[in-house]
Amino acid sequence: MSSSSGTTIHRSPRLMRLHESDARAIRIELATGLLASVPSIAPKFLYDALGSRLFAAITDLSEYYPTRTEAAIFRTHRNAIAAAVGEGCTLVDLGAGNCEKAASLFDALRPTRYVAIDISADYLADALDYLQFRHPALDLLGVGMDFSTTFNLPDEANVDACVVFYPGSSIGNFTPQAAEKFLRQVRLAAKGGGLLIGVDLNKPSEILEPAYDDALGVTAAFNRNMLTVANRLLGANFEVADFRHVAFFNRVESRIEMHLEAVRDASVRWPDAAANSSQDSTQESVRVFRAGERIHTENSYKYTPDNFAALLRRAGYTRITKWTDADEWFGVFWADG
Ligand SMILES: C[S@@+](CC[C@H](N)C(=O)[O-])C[C@H]1O[C@@H](n2cnc3c(N)ncnc32)[C@H](O)[C@@H]1O
Repeated sequence: MSSSSGTTIHRSPRLMRLHESDARAIRIELATGLLASVPSIAPKFLYDALGSRLFAAITDLSEYYPTRTEAAIFRTHRNAIAAAVGEGCTLVDLGAGNCEKAASLFDALRPTRYVAIDISADYLADALDYLQFRHPALDLLGVGMDFSTTFNLPDEANVDACVVFYPGSSIGNFTPQAAEKFLRQVRLAAKGGGLLIGVDLNKPSEILEPAYDDALGVTAAFNRNMLTVANRLLGANFEVADFRHVAFFNRVESRIEMHLEAVRDASVRWPDAAANSSQDSTQESVRVFRAGERIHTENSYKYTPDNFAALLRRAGYTRITKWTDADEWFGVFWADG
């Protein structure tokens, strides 16, 4: 866009922040997970602005094969993907992060509108500013939102027959049953459009486990940062040094599990989560973690191509196309109908 003086003016993309509004519900969710007999923190709490930057660093690690394998599938099959998806869509990116994956497909898909959704709204705002700078004419909308329980797009997203883009195998964070329910909601929200989704596939644990427990300790920092997120959102007093990162492949469930394990007894306190604000609270909750006790922080389910296609069918999709790399480490699926 140019002003009358000839100076180029870059507009800032609109960002709707729908997530942070319910701080009390967020506190209750965190407290409920921490007080459960098997304590957990949902993986969405991995992603504050620092967590998002740490995840971006993970994607550069030699051990972390998913990002580069998926990117290679997009490059190799770019024409076939464009032919299946079609040009000129509204592209709705779920868990957009730095928006780089979607941007790598802009030349092939030529979207008229890009709607980027992410729980990590500050990080998304920066990513969208940079994207608008590189694509000044593209209509961009950011939505800071948590889609883990129900998936509804705001009216402003205006997404008739849109293409939903869900890369990075984030679908693996849901149990297969929850993934089916979520994808059914996604199919309805796309109003006759389709889904382009990336899924991590089964492979030996010698390849899987280092991807979630790298030698530099970046994934460990990413996981442990969740405690600082809990401290900020819940008003808790976790000491990060009291917990270590644990990741392993659970073959029975076909999933990588990430945990935070107490290295010594740790007594963690926070103000009553149900109070209207953490300052209003006079009561406290306490959870003692014994040395060796774990907080479950993430699952990442791994599928076979056939299992995942079956899941897409159960979610209601009738036409499914699949692309993989030569080793079948990762799958990209286009589903519509
Ligand atoms: C594994 S990263 C993938 C990022 C990027 N799409 C990629 O493939 O490299 C998951 C992304 O989803 C976002 N996210 C995680 N849980 C979410 C939720 N419940 N609602 C909205 N976004 C979420 C994170 O902030 C993060 O950007």
